[in-house]
Amino acid sequence: MTSLRLRPEDTADPPAIRRVVAEAFARPDTPVPAEVRLVESLRASEAWLPELSMVAEADGEIVGYALLTRVRVDPGLVPALALGPVAVPPRRQRRGYGSAVVQAALDAAVELGERLVVVLGAPAFYRRFGFEPAARFGLTSPWSGLGDPWQALALPAAVSGAEPPPSGEVSYPQAWAQV
Ligand SMILES: CC(C)(COP(=O)(O)OP(=O)(O)OC[C@H]1O[C@@H](n2cnc3c(N)ncnc32)[C@H](O)[C@@H]1OP(=O)(O)O)[C@@H](O)C(=O)NCCC(=O)NCCS
Repeated sequence: MTSLRLRPEDTADPPAIRRVVAEAFARPDTPVPAEVRLVESLRASEAWLPELSMVAEADGEIVGYALLTRVRVDPGLVPALALGPVAVPPRRQRRGYGSAVVQAALDAAVELGERLVVVLGAPAFYRRFGFEPAARFGLTSPWSGLGDPWQALALPAAVSGAEPPPSGEVSYPQAWAQV
């Protein structure tokens, strides 16, 4: 039976992560999907949080990837997280790898005391983790106009007395402008 290992990326992983993201987001008209460039731009930016770049490994091969990076919520530049990209190569999909690697990234974020995650994607996939339309949290962003696909999740507080999740305008780092 295949055993799935969920762990943060290590120094040897970036080429395999690049392959996984490239396969998941492959389009006939695009040699390098924007999502590949997004990961690499984020990895080189201040938004990068190494513990929250999460891989799913089966039989020694990376079969899933989920990334959480820093965003800020105004007023106050309150820290929050953006989820994405999330990637499983087509031949590996529908075996639970995508759900497992996203949940592992969210669990790691809770351990770090993070309170809010935003994501742009299919509600049919993200609602299983508890994501809801971000507007319900009083959040806005350049993607607010897309409606339900821009979603948010309030994480449970890791410590009692933690601040409530922030509301306001979410600003993404420059790396996201290419998506
Ligand atoms: C989305 C993705 C990460 C899911 O990975 P996975 O390993 O197949 O996911 P799981 O096996 O854990 O879950 C599959 C479930 O997600 C659903 N799902 C997968 N992709 C979906 C999508 N784009 N829209 C809606 N639902 C989706 C499946 O219908 C399935 O639902 P079910 O459990 O009710 O049958 C993978 O399909 C992928 O990499 N897709 C291409 C890249 C992409 O679009 N990523 C961002 C997603 S918004």
